[in-house]
Amino acid sequence: MTSLNPVKLRPGDTIGILGGGQLGRMLALAAARLGLRCNVYSPDPDSPAFDVVQRATCAEYADVAALELFASEVDVITYEFENVPSGTAMILAARRPVLPDPAVLQTTQDRLAEKDFVRRLGIATADYADVSSLETLQQAVARLGLPAVLKTRRFGYDGKGQSIIRDADSLEALWSELGTNSAILEKFIPFEREISVVAARGADGRVECFDVTENEHRDHILKTSRAPARISDELAAQARTIATTIADAFDYVGVLAVEMFVVPGPSGPSLMVNEIAPRVHNSGHWTLDGASVSQFEQHIRAIAGWPLAPVHRHGEVAMTNLIGNEIDDYGAWLAKPGVTVHLYGKGIAREGRKMGHITEVKTRSRSQKR
Ligand SMILES: Nc1ncnc2c1ncn2[C@@H]1O[C@H](COP(=O)(O)OP(=O)(O)O)[C@@H](O)[C@H]1O
Ligand SMILES: [Mg+2]
Repeated sequence: MTSLNPVKLRPGDTIGILGGGQLGRMLALAAARLGLRCNVYSPDPDSPAFDVVQRATCAEYADVAALELFASEVDVITYEFENVPSGTAMILAARRPVLPDPAVLQTTQDRLAEKDFVRRLGIATADYADVSSLETLQQAVARLGLPAVLKTRRFGYDGKGQSIIRDADSLEALWSELGTNSAILEKFIPFEREISVVAARGADGRVECFDVTENEHRDHILKTSRAPARISDELAAQARTIATTIADAFDYVGVLAVEMFVVPGPSGPSLMVNEIAPRVHNSGHWTLDGASVSQFEQHIRAIAGWPLAPVHRHGEVAMTNLIGNEIDDYGAWLAKPGVTVHLYGKGIAREGRKMGHITEVKTRSRSQKR
């Protein structure tokens, strides 16, 4: 329990990071700037985060001996992806503080549990139904209507494990294609835009939200994030309140992201929560160049038991992902004035793979909110 035994790192201490992707890499870089070391644990020998740390553990998540050794080498453990197996988290948590508390994963690994949790907080989501068979899918479609979105409860990302149902004749085929009997059906929301709030919560319960970000997807993969989102101040305040309510309800320590839909309505737009990511998030990458503190540094500060930084945005910020072979244009981006380039050092530019990102900041002091 964090509240009974609070973590307080000192410069030179070591953070264990589960997961070796670009998020782990950027967390480790932020930790290094604060004089903290990292040990990255990942089963993939080509993990981009391995390149920036002195200690790396390349082992399976079920390798008990490797987990025990890893725990003995670090002072606190965090994760950069939400699908940490519960057995892995249990073994580690018995030995070292794990932040955010792995109990959060039980909710956020399962779309149904996540939506139930959000609804219990009085926060709106798309209407949804638990689906575990063709029959329950048919009943859910009858209740929610079409179009609707069928999603696996677990392991979905970048639109994988989901499909839009437009016509009731396709149910049988879609159900067998999904390949699982653990699914959720959501009403299709004709949203006006998608936004997210990246929030940091410190061990003392203080929450610092970054400005609301507007996200555009291409082929279900995040392409561009802009801050601030083009929504009213009132709606932005509501979005931050939603993220804060969720972080408080989890007694969260670290950074989380809440994805939301802005839904048009007769009395103006309203918000629905789509998804919670219990980690730093792609829609917060702009904070590396566009804010006084990045989401990665806020996360490190939170799990180190250090004070969070008050957030100041430098201007209007746009972050664009370099996906697949778009990475080949890095030379042109490097030459473009006002563009900051981030390359993740990944070997093969597979289709749909996030290879890097660029950020552009338009400084206009009068557009700043804080
Ligand atoms: N109920 C819905 N109505 C309309 N669009 C949706 C709905 N659910 C998801 N989407 C679209 O699909 C994208 C991916 O869905 P999401 O639930 O965030 O899964 P993941 O990001 O894990 O792949 C969303 O960002 C949104 O654009
Ligand atoms: Mg999502």
